[in-house]
Amino acid sequence: MKYLVLVLSIFIFFSCKQNEETQETAKQEKIVYDMYEPSEMANLMNQMYAHNLKVKNDILAGNVPSEFPLDFLKIHSAEMSEFKERNAVFQSFSELFIEAEKEIYNTESTVPLEERFNKTVNLCISCHQTECTGPIPRIKKLLIK
Ligand code: HEC
Repeated sequence: MKYLVLVLSIFIFFSCKQNEETQETAKQEKIVYDMYEPSEMANLMNQMYAHNLKVKNDILAGNVPSEFPLDFLKIHSAEMSEFKERNAVFQSFSELFIEAEKEIYNTESTVPLEERFNKTVNLCISCHQTECTGPIPRIKKLLIK
């Protein structure tokens, strides 16, 4: 039963946790489980996911996305779950990601729109590979094939 609770809480809340943290006791995991609330960053990420899904569908429908969502800039400041920290790698990935996302809305770009979009999604994935691998399969679905 302890094992089940542990697995369940890791699965639900610690999709971003790395292996070393799974050694915490089942008791501790349960406490976190009870207090769980999505971080500001987690909410922003879900918003970015939904927005980019819409952009993907717009592109596939032949529409040109018109406005860079300014909310995305919160990636530089949003509070993260307690086990996450803003290190140099995170900073540089968030900058690269924001630059790429802005390019989607650059009507003067000579790079095909689909390519710009996929570049952005690949940056979501690159950052996630460094510290939060859980959502990667979901993010991959955003790629335009
Ligand atoms: C600079 C690094 C970085 C970039 C770029 C990034 N993410 Fe994330 N993502 C994170 C981190 C860190 C978390 C964990 C946040 C937390 O738990 O506080 C996260 C969490 C998530 C989650 C899980 C949210 C939840 O409910 O727990 C999803 C989904 C997600 N990101 C999708 C995306 C998508 C889609 C993109 C691109 C449009 C993206 N991410 C770009 C670092 C990044």
